[in-house]
Amino acid sequence: MLRAAITGIQGYVPDYILRNEELEQMVETNDEWIQTRTGIKERRILNQRGLGTSDMAVPAVNSLLEKKNISPSEIELVICATVTPDMQFPATANIISDKAGLKNAFGYDINAACCGFLYALTTAAKFIETGVHQKVLLVGADKMSSIIDYEDRATCVIFGDGAGAVLLEPDHEGNGIINSKLYSDGSGSTFLHQKAGGSVKPASHATVDAHEHYVYQDGRTVFKFAVNNMAEVAKQVMNESDLTPDNVHWLVPHQANKRIIEATYKQLNLNPDKVMVNIERYGNTTNATIPLCLWEWEDQINKGDNLILAAFGGGFTWGATYMRWSY
Ligand code: UT7
Repeated sequence: MLRAAITGIQGYVPDYILRNEELEQMVETNDEWIQTRTGIKERRILNQRGLGTSDMAVPAVNSLLEKKNISPSEIELVICATVTPDMQFPATANIISDKAGLKNAFGYDINAACCGFLYALTTAAKFIETGVHQKVLLVGADKMSSIIDYEDRATCVIFGDGAGAVLLEPDHEGNGIINSKLYSDGSGSTFLHQKAGGSVKPASHATVDAHEHYVYQDGRTVFKFAVNNMAEVAKQVMNESDLTPDNVHWLVPHQANKRIIEATYKQLNLNPDKVMVNIERYGNTTNATIPLCLWEWEDQINKGDNLILAAFGGGFTWGATYMRWSY
């Protein structure tokens, strides 16, 4: 059976480390509160002026192609999941293609907030499963620091910058993406959004003065939503695929809050050893959390391992994907 499988992965995080101690100097917060409530100790920030999301995606893409010994001209499609595109338009995928020399690829962006990587993965897989394309690049990348208000303690302690790139290719050995369940509910948009800069409220002096180009989040509501829905959709995917806690090798959860991750694996009856968690070092990098986990755990994942990827985010959006690792 023809399936789409991840055949390579690479991450990139900027060098600058923003530690909780530095945030204590910026807003009324403290290391103990941040660690207890979120599990985060530090996050990476792309702090050089004039650099954007594509500048993190491109090193990930270049290293991935080098690692796989693939010429840039072989890539047929690039999908970039991001909420912080380099510009409103054109798509950041096009900018990545240009900078990485992917001359034969078409590209577009997907915006599904923190669930974007799963939406993009599911979408990208269809181009492989239908036999239309053989080599598809998928990027999850966000420069969250470009839309975070470092005077708002409710959000600035959570987010960080980073990028991950994966290569999708056809698999005939029964590995690859087996099942995905994706959901969205636009009535949740009021709880997590960027108020201005879109067509409803274009940028103006007033929107800048009101800090409306930054992330707004009602944390408690989003927390409750996440705890209920991330586990529920993961359970649904597991049930449909006859997976039990025993034969799931890895849970790869979106890294938004350590307490949400813990609640999720407990509801799934999974052993914590099977759960990828790196939130303490990167915070919530939105579209990059899942690929950054896969990148860091790549050496520990074995061919044939059953992985459940699960995410939720602004929108609301949520979903889970079951894949069997191909290498
Ligand atoms: O991927 C995107 C999806 N987003 C998320 O997953 C975020 C989900 N939500 C969360 O992770 C949590 O709600 C937060 C980490 C954002 C907040 O944690 P919480 O335990 O829900 O705290 P809270 O908002 O209920 O606030 C508790 C208290 C409040 O003070 P009072 O009203 O009890 O006096 C806040 O003002 O903590 C205060 N507080 C802080 N204190 C120190 C809020 N932020 C901070 C802070 N430092 N950074």
